[in-house]
Amino acid sequence: MSANRGAHRHRVLTSIGKGLLGVGAAGAGSLAYAGLYEVNAFRLRRVTVPLLPEGARPIRILHVSDLHMTPYARARQRWLSGLGALEPDLVINTGDNLAHQESVPVVLDSLGHLLDRPGVYVWGANDYYPPKFRNPLRYLLGPSRSKRLPERMLPWQDLGRGFKEAGWIDLTHTRAALEIKDVRIGFRGTDDAHIDQDRYADVAGPIDRDEIDLAIGVTHAPYRRVLDAMTIDGHDLIIAGHTHGGQVCVPIYGALVTNCDLDTRRAKGLSQHSADSRTAWLHVSAGVGTSPYAPIRFACPPEATLLTLTSRGENAMG
Ligand SMILES: [Fe+2]
Repeated sequence: MSANRGAHRHRVLTSIGKGLLGVGAAGAGSLAYAGLYEVNAFRLRRVTVPLLPEGARPIRILHVSDLHMTPYARARQRWLSGLGALEPDLVINTGDNLAHQESVPVVLDSLGHLLDRPGVYVWGANDYYPPKFRNPLRYLLGPSRSKRLPERMLPWQDLGRGFKEAGWIDLTHTRAALEIKDVRIGFRGTDDAHIDQDRYADVAGPIDRDEIDLAIGVTHAPYRRVLDAMTIDGHDLIIAGHTHGGQVCVPIYGALVTNCDLDTRRAKGLSQHSADSRTAWLHVSAGVGTSPYAPIRFACPPEATLLTLTSRGENAMG
């Protein structure tokens, strides 16, 4: 760790610590655990979702989200690099990749062999805008809504070029289709609803079951308006990130916030979403990283998810 980086991390943790001192020494101990251990205690969540036509072979999808990558996040980079060995049939990246001007090559290197697999992606606000310091305790008070700079200052377009050169498909307000293991998968995506950039209407319309066996909606922030619209159109599965799983959670109880209008019970993992008598599976990733200004996690380890899609009629797990 460079001296500058170490000093920065020290300042950030100190400022968070001052906040937690208000709740006593137990808070300081928890901070040390959250900032020094859990933030790098990566895990691979595994879920099984019964969505495929009868007789179809299982399809393995790796969902990665919220890398918030900096050049200094070496443990995060090493763990991501190891995910290539999973050799998934498809990678879905739900945005918030960047937290530093020089992170594009780091993200591409860390994804490594995953870029050799088919992939789709959408962007999050933290692909466009650099992280800003704010009191991390405010995160617990409700969705963050700050005035954003009009100019997108992070090199998200360079990252998009890297993704596209690898053959990954940008789903921002776009429909796309891939055939994987003889299953015709249709995708629709939106830009980030957290900064009101979502325009689902651009891709809306009932799923055409003559052309699509499996419909997957992809979005960064799981705001209910996006989930409702995708569900009503007949999507089978919706994939999102953004929540960080609540990031600072209460053991056993779970998340206190989702940083959007989704209820806290669905802050991470596999659940379902219903609207207008239709129901879709929903998978929300707790994410791999955190903002460099809030480098803590508690009762909510960083994660990626391997979703195994199986035939309808089998049991869901996860
Ligand atoms: Fe994020």
